[in-house]
Order: sequence, then C-alpha cells, then structure tokens
Amino acid sequence: MTDTHPNADFNALESRLTRACSCHEQGDYHRAEILYRDLIGQYPGIWQLHFNYGLLCDETGRYEEALENYFAGLAINPASEDLHYNIAICQKKLGRIEAAIDSYRRALEIAPDDIDCLYNLAGCYRSQGDDQRAARVYSEILERAPQHLPSLNNLAYVAHKNGDSAGARELYDKILALNPDHVSAEYMRAALSGETRSQPPDSYVKEVFDAFADHYEASLTANLGYELPSTLRDFYQRLLPRNTPERLLDLGCGTGLIGDTFQSFCQSMTGVDISEKMLDAAREKRLYDTLHLSAIKDFLTTHPNSSYDLVVSGDVLPYIGDLEELFIGVSRVLTALGHFMFSVEHHSDEALVPVLQQSGRFAHSQAYVTRVADKTGWQIIGQTLLDLRRERDEWIQGSIYLMSLSSIS
Ligand SMILES: C[S@@+](CC[C@H](N)C(=O)[O-])C[C@H]1O[C@@H](n2cnc3c(N)ncnc32)[C@H](O)[C@@H]1O
Repeated sequence: MTDTHPNADFNALESRLTRACSCHEQGDYHRAEILYRDLIGQYPGIWQLHFNYGLLCDETGRYEEALENYFAGLAINPASEDLHYNIAICQKKLGRIEAAIDSYRRALEIAPDDIDCLYNLAGCYRSQGDDQRAARVYSEILERAPQHLPSLNNLAYVAHKNGDSAGARELYDKILALNPDHVSAEYMRAALSGETRSQPPDSYVKEVFDAFADHYEASLTANLGYELPSTLRDFYQRLLPRNTPERLLDLGCGTGLIGDTFQSFCQSMTGVDISEKMLDAAREKRLYDTLHLSAIKDFLTTHPNSSYDLVVSGDVLPYIGDLEELFIGVSRVLTALGHFMFSVEHHSDEALVPVLQQSGRFAHSQAYVTRVADKTGWQIIGQTLLDLRRERDEWIQGSIYLMSLSSIS
C-alpha cells in the first residue's frame, strides 16, 4: 500500500488515506473499502488510491474488480511497475496466462532487474508448458542473483525433465552447498545418484504438484496419453460387475480426473490431496462432496473406521514409496466388503523393496506389492499391466491392482 501524494490539501488526504490503509492492513475490508471509494470519488486522479482499492479487491478474491481498479490507476500512471506487476498476478489468478505474461513484460521494461517479476514470468512459461523459455528466464535471474534457490531448483527440475541428469545433479549440488537443509534438492540428488529412500518428503510432493497444477490436465491427457482413470473404472466393472460402491475415497485426487470418471456410479466422493493448487482445480469441478488438504497418511490416521466402500488411488503410489503404512491405513477406513484399487509404476525385476527411480518416483514390483498385501491383511483379486503415460517418447509401464480385505472370503 502506498500513502503519499503531493497535493494542496495534502494533510486532509493523508490522514484519511492513513485511516483507510490502517483498516485495510488490519483486515477491516468493509471499512477500508468505504474509505477508499470515498477518497477516489474526491480525488479520482490519484493513481495510488486505485492501486490500494485494487489490492483490496484482489485480497478479497474479486479479481475482475481488482483489474478495473488497477487499469484505472494505469490510465493515470502508465509507468507504475507495481500496477503492471499486480495486474499480471491478477490475470494469472484468472487463468489468463498470455495477459499475465504481457503485464510482467511491461513491468520488466520499467524495472528490468526485478527478480520477483522475472521469477513469476518464468512461472507463467512453466504454466504454458514452455520449459525452455522458463529456463532462459531462470538463467537470467541467476545472472543477477546467483544464489536464488527457487530459480536453481526450477532449472534443475527442467534440466532433469529434459533428460539432462548430469546438469540437474550439478544444480542440486549447488543448491545443497548453499542450503544443506533443502529437502527437495536432497531427495532429487539421491534419486539421481541411485540412492534409496523409503518415501519422498511431503514438501517435495507438494512443491512438484503445486507447480504442475495449472497445466496438469492439458499435459497429461493431451500430450502424455494418460487414460488411467477410465482404465481403472473399466477394470473394476469387469471384475466386480454387480458392485455399486456408495462412498468412494480418492487418495491423491489431484485435479479430479478420477472423480470425473467415477462419479456416475458412486453416491458420494471424498478427495484427499497434499497439493493445495491441485485441490483448487478439483474444487472448481464441484464433483466431490468433500475435499481434504492433507497428506494421505495423516488423513488415514485421523479419519473414522469403515467409512468407504471403494478407495481409489490413481498414479499416486509412485509418490508414496513404502506401501505398508498406506495399506494398513486404507484397511482401517474401508468397509468390510469394500475394495482398494490403485496403480503403481511397474518394476519388472522382482525387487522386494520400493525402487526409487531417477525420475524421483518409485516403482513397485508385483512381488513387493504381494508381500506387503499379505502382511497387512489384503488379498489381490485382480492385477494387470498397462502403459501408464508417455515420458520422452517412451511409455512408462504400470500395473493396476484391485484388492479386498483377506478375512472376507
Ligand atoms: C500424478 S497425480 C494423480 C492425480 C489423480 N489421481 C489423477 O489420476 O489424475 C498425483 C497426486 O497425488 C498427490 N499426492 C502424492 N503424494 C501424496 C501424499 N503423500 N498425500 C497426499 N497427496 C499426495 C499429488 O499432490 C498429486 O495431486
């Protein structure tokens, strides 16, 4: 918020603006709005008033109104970097990535070294799936601020995604030299070095999917050949044609692709995901009765027993690693006659442990899944191999499983 303006009745303006800003800062949006509107009515030529009022609209989720106010400010002061920057943020929130890019570029014409602006611009390119352009901007940031960890981390991710494992490792090394506690870099360096871990850090999973959320569906369904949700549904219906599960739990629901596919034959659906941005996308679809922002293990330990008839987890176990705790947790929340259906990335050697791959995801062999299922009271009633999704022109081989509790004959 800004509260300076050279004006004849400066004192009166200043004290009213200070009051409005103070209400705004204290979260009294109603009062602040009245004061800003009043001030704008009296001093329509002061761009900062439009800026502040726009900010208030933005903070209260009224993005179109925020834009109207920012543009009113821009008509008075086209050289305000802050206005261009805030317009860009708003456009991005409204899903208008091209418009956001345009505004970030305008802000950068005014302040070419603004790191936040450059970083957000790169994020827009990532949202468009244009990793190369994003990488160029991250590199620009690093020329100005060589220790900018988020740019190093994103650059490592892009390098890795494009198959440059050595480049990615070097960048993760650099991050860890600057911050030895950087958990995502530590995890990815371990994956790239062939070390093993029992599970990824929650913060890593959250970071990956928060960054992926706004182009997840486009890239999965359009580019990567992802048909897992309908494959899971067809598998379930083929094996249990007379079953009509009432309550479905979607673990790692992401943007809701499983919900899209299963809604027609379930009465209620609950989704759980650790990524706020993926969950936001699911929420917009209004498919689920309840959505929980939570790590799966926390949800399963705090949720009532025997609550669901069908638990589905599509393309999530690669981010779980060790399956024992998951299988025990699901057995608790499942009704006695319920079923658990999930996919894994298939590991063709019969390894008896989850295998951390260079991708940072785990693969699970049939021998491992069978062993953990036996140990935790499950019986596998169906399993099949499938092509899961493409990665750099190769299909990742997966496997889907349908299980019931083994005490039920
Ligand atoms: C590849 S996406 C799959 C999403 C969805 N099931 C689908 O088929 O489109 C994996 C999802 O699982 C979530 N996830 C991974 N590990 C998780 C965990 N431990 N707790 C909660 N959510 C998790 C991620 O945030 C992400 O949204």
